[in-house]
Amino acid sequence: MRVIVAKDYDEMSKRAGSIVKDRLAKKPNLVLGLATGSTPVGLYKELIRLHKEEGLSFKDVVTFNLDEYCGLSHDHPQSYHYFMKENLFKDIDIKPENTHIPEGLSKNVEEFCRKYEEEIKKCGGIDLQVLGIGGDGHIAFNEPGSSLSSRTRVKTLDEGTIKDNARFFEREEDVPKIAITMGIGTIMEAKEHLLLINGKNKAEAAAKAIEGPITSQITASVLQNHPKTIAILDEEAASLLERSDYYKFTEEQSGEIS
Ligand code: F6R
Repeated sequence: MRVIVAKDYDEMSKRAGSIVKDRLAKKPNLVLGLATGSTPVGLYKELIRLHKEEGLSFKDVVTFNLDEYCGLSHDHPQSYHYFMKENLFKDIDIKPENTHIPEGLSKNVEEFCRKYEEEIKKCGGIDLQVLGIGGDGHIAFNEPGSSLSSRTRVKTLDEGTIKDNARFFEREEDVPKIAITMGIGTIMEAKEHLLLINGKNKAEAAAKAIEGPITSQITASVLQNHPKTIAILDEEAASLLERSDYYKFTEEQSGEIS
């Protein structure tokens, strides 16, 4: 895993943006995996800036989101459909038909999940998957104990995740308890990962995921098994990493990200 320690959230987001820009320059029809939540908002702002100020185009880009709450309609302010529209899609030139987000209102969820996986394959697989991490070490909604070879499916949210995500809802009871999520097996098939981690409250999960043993109890730790993961952390999230100096030294040797 390549570990980059950025000064702060802003630098983390800008460095992530320059990686997406680079991959898009190499492949304009990039298949981009997207995450929601607080973490990638800065990256999405940067992508919008790159689009508006530098002409970065998403017209041939295809996207697949990691997850969606069950039971929320597309126009529910806390649905990930709404989040993606408001935080990215409405401000770039992506074609709505090229964007894919799990359907939280699906009547036949199993069939939906099977088709979602099929669609990813039909597009040639995900080239670059953006990931955040939960306080319990989850990626997407693969909570502790998830099978490390799981596929897209319905998953029950952990109590800690419900509490964490309550900040977006009026009341904790309003947080949906189940969600459709890409599985760890699905995520591991992406050709490259961009894992973003910021804030003190993520420091423990970050240290376990990056330097701890690979375990289904910290599902992000499975990324250690992937040949191409770039993790970008701000100083606070990196504060419990034991090998921070080495990561910084490595970056000094390799110069700019490619
Ligand atoms: C969201 C997702 C989740 C979040 C994680 C961190 O699509 O996949 O795994 O990345 O829960 O959320 P924030 O960024 O809000 O701390």
